[in-house]
Amino acid sequence: MSIVTNKELLDRAKAGHYAVAAFNTNNLEYIQAILTAAADLKSPVIVEAAKSEIDYMDGNVFVAIVSILADKLAIPVGIHLDHGPTYEETIRCLSYGFKSVMYDGSALPLAENIAITKEVVRAAHACGVSVEGEVGVIGQAADGPEGKANDMIGIANPGECERFVKESGVDCFAAAIGNAHGIYKRKPELRYDVLAEIEKKTGVPLVLHGGTGIPEEDLRKAINMGVSKINFSTVMRKGGIEVLAETLKKNPGDWDLMKMLTPTKEKMIEIAKQHIIMCMSDHKA
Ligand code: 13P
Repeated sequence: MSIVTNKELLDRAKAGHYAVAAFNTNNLEYIQAILTAAADLKSPVIVEAAKSEIDYMDGNVFVAIVSILADKLAIPVGIHLDHGPTYEETIRCLSYGFKSVMYDGSALPLAENIAITKEVVRAAHACGVSVEGEVGVIGQAADGPEGKANDMIGIANPGECERFVKESGVDCFAAAIGNAHGIYKRKPELRYDVLAEIEKKTGVPLVLHGGTGIPEEDLRKAINMGVSKINFSTVMRKGGIEVLAETLKKNPGDWDLMKMLTPTKEKMIEIAKQHIIMCMSDHKA
């Protein structure tokens, strides 16, 4: 099946009460693992990369690999820019062939975030590309001494979310509701009250960042309240690197790179499957 926009994927997910898992990635084995897991489970999936990952792989190479591999599969696949840091970096991804981009202006005052996001939407929509925005501050789980203060610092204001969606024209957006990137130092406490208000005021599919470590029951509750895309990054890298370290330790002096990377890829397939099932998107392709 061909590559589709995130709007198409997320509108269907919202109507069907499931979420599409979006996995960050930055190399061939990692992309193969994500697509194999999704194809085995007959699930839609989003392959995403942040700026550093795109710089590492080269944007054209990234899109070409995902497109060629996805073309052989009977599942819809999204290709998405995660956390576009500037207007220019975000728009550059249109030239690589991304079908969805995120512009993250959440560190800016709301009016500025809206103004730039609106310009991104104008350019991206002209190319048939969907746009994700961000409101509130989704930090790093491991930053603060306790973690908690950090996760809870930038909880999105539902009124601001309403204004952001109306004025910018985004297709979906990420709101900070007590989630954070990386390994949580304690069980995350998602603010379902805020999520409910945001959903009521905006109506567009919502995106949950910082999926690593959020328990299944919390993910499912959030999905039932309108979350239609969940981002997972650390959990895949951690699982893959742990297995790679074990494999290297068990095989000293073996310089067969394929042999060293195969168990890593298998572990990533297993982790991706677990998270696709948590998102309830299996057999929804
Ligand atoms: P985790 O690394 O916590 O899974 O977060 C991923 C993410 O939200 C990428 O934008």
